[in-house]
Amino acid sequence: MYRSHTCGELRSEHIGNEVKLAGWIQRSRVMSGQIFADLRDRYGITQLSFVEKKDAELFVRAKKLGREFVVQINGQVIERQSKNPNMPTGDIEVEVQSLTLLNASKTPPFTIENDTDGGEELRMTYRYLDLRRNPLQDAMKLRHKVAMAVRNYLAERDFLEIETPYLIKSTPEGARDFVVPSRMQPGHFYALPQSPQTFKQLLMVSGYDKYFQIVRCFRDEDLRADRQPEFTQIDCEMAFVEQEDILNTFEGLTRHLLNTVVDANISEAFPRISYADAMNKYGIDKPDIRFGMTLTEITTLVQNKGFQVFDQAEYVGGICVEGGAAMSRKEIDKLTDFVKRPQIGVKGLVWMKCDADNKSSVDKFFSAEQRMEWKTAMNAQDGDLILLIADTGDRARKALGELRLHLGNERGLRNPKEFAPLWVIDFPLLEKDEESNRWYAMHHPFTSPKPEDIPLLDSDPGKVRANAYDLVLNGNEIGGGSIRIFDRTLQSKMFDLLGFSKEEAESQFGFLMQAFEYGAPPHGGIALGFDRLVAILGGQENIRNFIAFPKNNAGRDLMIEAPAVLGDEQLRELQLTISS
Ligand code: AMO
Ligand code: AMP
Repeated sequence: MYRSHTCGELRSEHIGNEVKLAGWIQRSRVMSGQIFADLRDRYGITQLSFVEKKDAELFVRAKKLGREFVVQINGQVIERQSKNPNMPTGDIEVEVQSLTLLNASKTPPFTIENDTDGGEELRMTYRYLDLRRNPLQDAMKLRHKVAMAVRNYLAERDFLEIETPYLIKSTPEGARDFVVPSRMQPGHFYALPQSPQTFKQLLMVSGYDKYFQIVRCFRDEDLRADRQPEFTQIDCEMAFVEQEDILNTFEGLTRHLLNTVVDANISEAFPRISYADAMNKYGIDKPDIRFGMTLTEITTLVQNKGFQVFDQAEYVGGICVEGGAAMSRKEIDKLTDFVKRPQIGVKGLVWMKCDADNKSSVDKFFSAEQRMEWKTAMNAQDGDLILLIADTGDRARKALGELRLHLGNERGLRNPKEFAPLWVIDFPLLEKDEESNRWYAMHHPFTSPKPEDIPLLDSDPGKVRANAYDLVLNGNEIGGGSIRIFDRTLQSKMFDLLGFSKEEAESQFGFLMQAFEYGAPPHGGIALGFDRLVAILGGQENIRNFIAFPKNNAGRDLMIEAPAVLGDEQLRELQLTISS
């Protein structure tokens, strides 16, 4: 037996007990006649002591213990002389009687403590060492806890977890596919699923009316803090449901997670906002509603007063920064630079400091009375700062939305301990790519239009709204789904609108359309981004810290050095040649 207890377990009630512990030496302090060493496992840290007087030979061996050595000890639990109230085991220590060195360790390339000196790249290369650190261990535990809570919640409600294949044909979720060459059929490739979308719909046709799966998805897209090339979804589908049923079921799940995992204490219904309202009020389709500072349009109020920038714009609108009038010119100039960055790309920012004078950057063009009207329209108080942007509606709203989030961060309005979920509904069915002048499915091609908008499919496709919804938490899209088309004719029409020829639709999705001819029930579903959800519950937005073995921003696993080149033998077998 290696151990009788874990390193996080012993308390003063164990004093006097003989125990066995095993773990890693976190650090050791050698003093005259005595050595204190911290022994760590995933449950905690226990202080070991070695006393020279009691066993000189053991003492000499203990002196040689280095960081991250793996040892097993037998000893007696004793009361600690200088207690450490910050450690759960801080009242005791274990006086070691025998020591077995199980394995030595090289000096680790960074310190394995809560705050480490290792840079991100180094820690990714030695991920197995980084995973020994508490913050990552806590993240893994949280992830496990959320997964268990999800499974229990859904299983109690008759959902079945059913696995779907990874070696499939392309699924249209809008990213590029990762492909896998077939050895047995040279020149043919599998695609890894961007999601199990078509399979879960087929399961509905098969009669499994409540399905879920905690499943890996693969998307070859540009990576960011909240995006990994392989990530995990809580993927769900239900038959004989309407949008309302799906929203209620998964609002229930999300509330359960928020209330049990992080004690968010949310009892009210999640707010719902239409896509159009979200864009108008927040300039983004995933609003962070933990704070106000919403957008107000004042186009008509400010035009025809001789200020060209406003007169020529399709839209003029702004936000009101509570208490922002105290900002210096330098700070405001920085905000102007922020919105002029190429990623946002508007031409400037007009400001007004609300007080008796309402001083603004455009006093030349607007009288005191006119500026007073802005204040009323924007519901501003003395002491506030009004910031205005003029441009096309789309660009100005987007810029204001980003400025709002930026100020939310700067002014500490986005408290990671506060949880503000909401539904965004009534998404447009289609969006046009201006370059190719083609329609794309905003969610995916299986999403049902709202029945009352179906006539618009022919006359004004851009106006058609979908039975599609996103679940948003603290400004992050943590889930998305829709009610599906379950009628072959309507599905063909969709493929048609999206520019698929009959043959393309048939070769890519023939199996699904065929299934729709064998008694497909009405159905719909949702997928929650599991990594994102766990990260936000953990108070962070970077999902990398919540995935055991993530990829870096270039899609590389620095530890195993993937992707890598294939050897000639393997290439030959797959009948692949690399042209360079
Ligand atoms: P969607 O594409 O919106 O829907 O994906 C669902 C959720 O998955 C998360 N997500 C990601 N998380 C990390 N890294 C990524 N690269 C990544 N991409 C997406 C997001 C997102 O909300 N089949 C549909 C669902 C359905 O219609 O039922 C789908 O995959 O949190
Ligand atoms: P300009 O005409 O470029 O000298 O700009 C005059 C003032 O209007 C400056 O303070 C700019 O920051 C501001 N401004 C310019 N373009 C815009 C815009 N599109 N929206 C809001 N303010 C702008």
